[in-house]
Order: sequence, then structure tokens, then C-alpha cells
Amino acid sequence: MKVCVVGSGGREHAFATTLATDAEVVVTPGSAGIPGSTEKAATAVDADLYVIGPEVPLVNGLADELRASGRHVFGPGTDGALLEASKAWMKDLVHAAGVPTASYAAFDQTQVEEATEFLSTLHPPYVVKTDGLAAGKGVLVTDNLEEAGNDARNKLSGVSFGNAGRRIVVEEGLTGPELSLFALCDGQQAVLIPTSAQDHKRLHDDDHGPNTGGMGCYSPMPDLGLDDLEALMDLAVHPTVVELKKRGIDYRGVLFAGFMMTKDGPKLLEYNVRFGDPEAQVILPRFEGNLSETLLEVAKGDLTSQPTVSADAMVTVVLASEGYPASPRIGDVIHGLDEARAIEGVTVFCAGVDSNIQGDLVTNGGRVLNVCGRAPTLGTAREIAYKAVDAISWPGMQHRTDIGASIEIDTNREGIK
Ligand code: AMP
Ligand code: GLY
Repeated sequence: MKVCVVGSGGREHAFATTLATDAEVVVTPGSAGIPGSTEKAATAVDADLYVIGPEVPLVNGLADELRASGRHVFGPGTDGALLEASKAWMKDLVHAAGVPTASYAAFDQTQVEEATEFLSTLHPPYVVKTDGLAAGKGVLVTDNLEEAGNDARNKLSGVSFGNAGRRIVVEEGLTGPELSLFALCDGQQAVLIPTSAQDHKRLHDDDHGPNTGGMGCYSPMPDLGLDDLEALMDLAVHPTVVELKKRGIDYRGVLFAGFMMTKDGPKLLEYNVRFGDPEAQVILPRFEGNLSETLLEVAKGDLTSQPTVSADAMVTVVLASEGYPASPRIGDVIHGLDEARAIEGVTVFCAGVDSNIQGDLVTNGGRVLNVCGRAPTLGTAREIAYKAVDAISWPGMQHRTDIGASIEIDTNREGIK
């Protein structure tokens, strides 16, 4: 089978590496660090299966375009991608499906007064979200009502996020540990990928510093059973798929559901219509069985094989460039990659890299490398990953030292039931 992976980051490198164990793989546009990369557009690549990694091409209709020419695609069309592209649409849909979620109201640019008034009826924390895609940066959570009001004003006027913010969702603030799950959906039914992962979003250790796209991740989360995850499937994902079908949406791809485990039970925070990055880097390599065949079944609307995942633990540490996330510096030569990759149990995925005229691999983005350790236990996986991190360097390289070290979820387990 020939598979075309769309994207250029660490998630797509993880897809390409895992798929390459049983298929021929081409990655577009890929990068200097991802074998099989091509400059050809996905539509110009002849493949048996197209796997679209990031949300932007999905929201822009690449899956629809490929399907219109008879191709098999893992990833929803623009209709299903609305789950991620419009938070107001997503909230309406899950509300209609009876899924527990934070109470909310949506406002457009003519409703600044209404939005601030609604905010004043809520209790802190206040949550103001851009309706549209904002590269993970469109959500403000604050205890300060004035800050929330100003944020709503700046979003609605287009000052802070352009058109993505001209519509906003204001939500009741929830508290509790967060948890994500991933389910494969073939348009008819959703099937859990039987593992869990936890992302570390802040730049610095102990969850300090600015929010990022994710500084590292580990899987599985100890103390979280598959029955807990299946309970969340029943609570949220299965009813969502029923509601999608009711609306005539044939959703084929992955549903990435984010929850907050509140004192009143789990509540759905968000859906993403693609794998997480860097969650994919700690899940896909542990996939057992034939990944390309499974994804092709999803793409064809006929998922019959049961996804299984190795019981091994994996930890990935994101190595970021100087200045990330505000203004990452690019072009620094990366040292020590071969030494890191030579360590047993280590895989390094390339997220934001390029090659210079001398042929050296250089930084080419904020998140540069995903250094992964795999072992039977989380502790050993962490040790291996950090041993490999120590082998790699470039000027100004940033990373966290506590990925997988603090386990949040077990304190609130009864909240899952
Ligand atoms: P979202 O993109 O909607 O998941 O929001 C990004 C992050 O904002 C989540 O991972 C949470 O940490 C936080 N967040 C979103 N919605 C809420 C909420 N209603 N209450 C508290 N925190 C939230
Ligand atoms: N790691 C979070 C995301 O991919 O949205």
C-alpha cells in the first residue's frame, strides 16, 4: 500500500515512521528531517490512502477535494472539521447530543455589550474563546472580570485574532485535571484507541510560563483504566457521532476529545479533528497491528479491526528554539542527533527543521524536535528520553525537565465515573 501523509511536523514524522513498517510512505510537504518528503501537492501524489495530519488543511477542504476525485482519506471533510473550526458550532452540537459541557453563549462582533454583560453573570474563572482556529492561542482563562471583558472586546473587534475572533464563545470556567482520548471514527461508529496521554502545555517546569502548543507528553497515564476511557466514550464520543450522523455528516478520521474532570463529573472541553501533537508521537509508535490497513478501513467507512496499543510507556520531550513561543529563532545548527538516536529505546521525530547549504540540520520553527523514550515503565521511558535530550544541543535550546514526572489525574478518579 502507498500512503500519502500531509503535514510537516513531529506528528506527521511519527505517522510516517509508523506507517512505513507496513506501507510505502510519501510525506507532503514534509521536511529535511522526514524521509520520503516530497514537494508535490497531495492532490498530485498517487496513493491508496491519504492521512491528513494538521487541522488547517482539513478545515480548508483538502479531504473533500481528495474524496471528490475518488481517493481514500483519513480525516474529516469541512463539515466534520467544524467541530474544531467553530467552537460555537461544536458547543451547539454537543449540547444537542446531551454531552456534559461548560455552559456557554456565543456572540458576534455586533454584540460586545451582550458579551460583557453575560460575563458579569458568571463566576470566576472566566473563559473567552475565539470561535475560529487560533493555533491553540485563542482561549483566555482568567479570574479577572475586567481582563475577560477587554479580551472579549479585542477578539470581537478583530484586534487580537482577526476574523477567527469576530465571533466568540464565553464559557463557564471549570476546574479540575484534564484528560484527552482518541477515537477512530468511520462515519458510523467510533472506536477507542485504548490508551491515554497527557500533554504539558506551559513552557517551563511545574506548569509555569506561557502556553505553548505542547512541551512534552507521556502515555499511558498511570491509574487510568480502559473502563474509565470507555465511560468517557459513552458519555461524550458515542452521542457525538450519533448527532453528527443525524446532521448528515460522514465523519472519517480521528476524534480527539479533551475533558476536564470537575467535582461534578467529567465535562467535555473540546474536540480536535486530528491527532494531538505531541500526543501522536507517544501513541502511534505503540500501535499494534497494521496501522495503514486500520486507517484505510476508517477512510473506506468500514472499520472492522480493533485498534490495540502496546502496554509500553512512552515519553516525548519537546526541544524548542530560543524565543519560543513568542518569537522563535531559526537557523541554528542542531548537534548530537545521531548520538541521541543511537540510545536504545530512543526515537527522535523532527518537528521544525530544515537543512542549510552545508547540509546540516537546522532549527526551522518553535518546536524543533520530539525526543521520545520507550520502555516497559514510565520512569525508565523518562530516563531514556532525558538521556537522549542531554546528547542534543543548539544555541538557546529550551526544554522542560519534568515531562511525565507529575501525575495529576489519580487524585480525582472518582470524578471519571
Ligand atoms: P480548548 O481549546 O477549548 O480546549 O481550550 C484550551 C484550554 O483552555 C483547555 O485545555 C483548558 O485548559 C482551558 N479551558 C477551556 N475551556 C475551559 C473552561 N470552560 N474552563 C476552564 N478552562 C478551560
Ligand atoms: N497537543 C495539543 C494539540 O495538539 O492540540
